[in-house]
Amino acid sequence: MIALPENKAVKKPIWQRHRAFLSGIVALIIIGTFFLTSGLHPLPPSPHGHKPPHGGKGDRHKPRCEKIDALSPSFNRSIDTILHDSAFRNSSIKKLSDAVRIPTVVQDKNPQPADDPDYYKHFYELHDYFNETFPHVNKHLKLEKINELGLLYTWEGSDPELKPLLLMAHQDVVPVNNETLSSWNFPPFSGHYDPETDFVWGRGSNDCKNLLIAEFEAVEQLLIDGFKPNRTVILSLGFDEEASGILGAANLASFLHERYGDDGIYSIIDEGEGIMEVDKDVFVATPINTEKGYVDFEISILGHGGHSSVPPDHTTIGIASELISDFEANPFDYEFEFDNPIYGLLTCAAEHSKSLSKDLKKTILGAPFCPRRKDKLVDFISEQNHLRNLIRTTQAVDIINGGVKANALPETTRFLINHRVNLHSSVSSVFERNMEYAKKIAKKYGYGLSKNGDDFIIPETDLGHIDVTVLRELEPAPFSPNSGPVWDILAGTIQNVFENGVLQNDEEFYVTTGLFSGNTDTKYYWNLSKNIYRFVGSIIDIDLLKTLHSVNEHVDVPGHLSAIAFVYEYIVNVNEYA
Ligand SMILES: *[C@@H]1O[C@H](CO)[C@@H](O)[C@H](O)[C@H]1NC(C)=O
Ligand SMILES: *[C@@H]1O[C@H](CO)[C@@H](O)[C@H](O)[C@H]1NC(C)=O
Ligand SMILES: *[C@@H]1O[C@H](CO)[C@@H](O)[C@H](O)[C@H]1NC(C)=O
Ligand SMILES: *[C@@H]1O[C@H](CO)[C@@H](O)[C@H](O)[C@H]1NC(C)=O
Ligand SMILES: *[C@@H]1O[C@H](CO)[C@@H](O)[C@H](O)[C@H]1NC(C)=O
Ligand SMILES: *[C@@H]1O[C@H](CO)[C@@H](O)[C@H](O)[C@H]1NC(C)=O
Ligand SMILES: [Zn+2]
Repeated sequence: MIALPENKAVKKPIWQRHRAFLSGIVALIIIGTFFLTSGLHPLPPSPHGHKPPHGGKGDRHKPRCEKIDALSPSFNRSIDTILHDSAFRNSSIKKLSDAVRIPTVVQDKNPQPADDPDYYKHFYELHDYFNETFPHVNKHLKLEKINELGLLYTWEGSDPELKPLLLMAHQDVVPVNNETLSSWNFPPFSGHYDPETDFVWGRGSNDCKNLLIAEFEAVEQLLIDGFKPNRTVILSLGFDEEASGILGAANLASFLHERYGDDGIYSIIDEGEGIMEVDKDVFVATPINTEKGYVDFEISILGHGGHSSVPPDHTTIGIASELISDFEANPFDYEFEFDNPIYGLLTCAAEHSKSLSKDLKKTILGAPFCPRRKDKLVDFISEQNHLRNLIRTTQAVDIINGGVKANALPETTRFLINHRVNLHSSVSSVFERNMEYAKKIAKKYGYGLSKNGDDFIIPETDLGHIDVTVLRELEPAPFSPNSGPVWDILAGTIQNVFENGVLQNDEEFYVTTGLFSGNTDTKYYWNLSKNIYRFVGSIIDIDLLKTLHSVNEHVDVPGHLSAIAFVYEYIVNVNEYA
């Protein structure tokens, strides 16, 4: 996974010394890779929140991963019950299991719901299930169905002047590969609860019916407890996040934008990171406050074909191959800024981990004040296979097509290259870079060059031309603040749930920010709020993450209960303190 140091005879290999820390970091990355990405609405990156997270040179000796003051809600009637009551726990397990049993699977391409209700029959079952299981939600919240299956619940607050709080989750799950069925400990749609492990098993148990049900449970319980918000609370639940949210989140978001306008929402919480144990008894929560961008290019070498007995020196396949080799030989540079959310996690680890080496701690903490240390830190991050992609634009050639017959020259060869765009970079700079390499090859072989099909940079030649077309694009997400009043309520609530509810006295708990490489449904919601956080209130174990979108997906019951407690407290705290 990472390089061993030279002097391994005297020191334990770095991956053993840093195991807990690294497994936390690895966990951080793994979760990200499973969120499907794409997006059809290019939006400009916003400048807000772009300042370095921890002030300037002045406070170099102040701890920068400080413990945040826990924000305790005065209305907390059910927190003990949610976290510790056996009857609540049992009924919560049942609510989650039953939801997992309804196989709301989506594929990569799905029909419009109105065109094919039968395709979506399990989603209708799930809606009936919500209605039966959460009667208070059903009675007191207004339900609107957006594009048939998108669910928009509105819990009207008493003060319409206050911007609503918006909670998201998605109803859909990824399919189960039939060939893996025999590897599942329990059938994927059994929702089996196993008392031995204290896990609920099944597809969607962790992505993200856990969050979906946690939101319903928290609101249901607040209603039972007689809580009356003055600030409106909204649940916005898409149904095709795993297919990039085109039918669900895109429509929900534009409906909400119409109703509440630009920046009309106080804050948005969606699926994302949770809490990691970065070292023994040291826990760090990492709400994700930005996302990398996304762009797919289709690159075509459009030649003329002919009989293969009289070939040119280079066929379109050969030329495509050379272009691909050029791309791969020239990966994007590592570009790390201190507002990269992973720096928050590294800082917390450096300040509070007992097992990280002194040298690495110095490198991390000294980097903002010393260019040499910054270079060393970038080297360190770039050596971690699971971290490095969070500080550069990635590239992956994922599809290639060319040629149909042994004795015919391929007229056209096309390939698709997918990029995840680094923070502070942009789709256009990736476009420019790809055009540069395409231009070099076009000139070398005497081809023309165009972009997006018909915009010619070099005219068509006798041989043909190369075209570079953008298929899908999404700029890196705006940064949501990691300081200020909205952040303080979020972080203070998380601190309270864990410090005063979940953890023991000798366990330390910190809140910082996180990043993963994928995108969630929030990519459609940027205009609605400057405060978008992707976070689930659960301590997340690395073994559990490996099962997301894979075999044996499961969730631990304590993690599910703390996720409910977080939503409950966050709704109350936003109401009381914002
Ligand atoms: C609930 O609030 C009361 C009063 O603020 C406090 O004494 C109690 O510890 C809180 N309970 C929980 C579980 O947070
Ligand atoms: C919860 O379920 C367990 C079995 O899993 C049982 O032992 C316990 O008595 C139940 N608690 C309540 C309050 O029903
Ligand atoms: C929920 O169920 C009740 C009956 O139990 C029914 O009257 C109501 O129409 C249902 N609501 C929805 C949204 O399906
Ligand atoms: C997987 O098996 C189920 C049940 O046997 C079947 O309905 C489904 O079509 C199969 N899926 C694929 C992709 O083969
Ligand atoms: C967001 O707002 C910008 C500027 O107001 C606008 O250009 C863009 O189309 C909006 N995007 C969405 C998804 O509403
Ligand atoms: C909202 O209600 C809470 C009590 O639940 C109260 O403390 C707070 O001041 C109210 N906020 C506003 C703006 O009315
Ligand atoms: Zn998800």
